[in-house]
Amino acid sequence: MPSRKADRVLAGLETHLRFLKEIGVEDVFKAPPPPARPVRTKPAGPETEAAMTAVREEILACRKCGLAAGRTQSVPGEGRTSTPLMFVGEGPGRDEDQQGRPFVGRAGQLLTKIIAAMTFDRGDVFIANIVKCRPPDNRVPQRAEVESCTPYLLRQIALINPRVIVTLGKTATEFFLPEVAGNMTSIRGRFYEWNGVQIMPTFHPSYLIRNEGDKVIRKMVWDDMQKVMSLLGRK
Ligand code: URA
Repeated sequence: MPSRKADRVLAGLETHLRFLKEIGVEDVFKAPPPPARPVRTKPAGPETEAAMTAVREEILACRKCGLAAGRTQSVPGEGRTSTPLMFVGEGPGRDEDQQGRPFVGRAGQLLTKIIAAMTFDRGDVFIANIVKCRPPDNRVPQRAEVESCTPYLLRQIALINPRVIVTLGKTATEFFLPEVAGNMTSIRGRFYEWNGVQIMPTFHPSYLIRNEGDKVIRKMVWDDMQKVMSLLGRK
């Protein structure tokens, strides 16, 4: 009879292989993606939904910084108001600027796969960015742009009240954890407390794409996401 330890090892292997499959490594695992499991939280009340809509409308009309001049449209963020899990990236790229939705380009497709590997539906979490308008040539947002834009994100977070925020890459991580020094390899892999929310910093999906063959980075991201899943009772 297999031991409990063997069961645990097999379960760990299975989730890792599932992740590799989800993020596009086709040659290791032939099983279908895991079914998304429903998020069990009370729906947000009508007042909270109305406040989210109000923030969204302000963002759509915002002209507080120079990024407004270069955008096609702003990208407020999307997903459930009542969710334990948020993902925060840096800022919209070209595809997001054109569609008005966060993480819909190549990096976004990878993020969607990561979310699926975590057994969430993309629509069950909330996805947002530090700045809501595309910086020219996808440059890193400037401090003044971050300062004028992040009150919107903070209002969204206050309304959602998530248990966990996954910060994708340096810009998002620095906003929440300015005092945490070091590169992503040394910062990631653990939770940091921020205003009662657990922050899990990890690599930006664009970095995974730029280092496509690097299994070590992929494994680090999956380890981080497994910690998030454990905290949220998904595994
Ligand atoms: N990169 C980001 O940081 N955010 C997006 O929405 C898309 C790409």
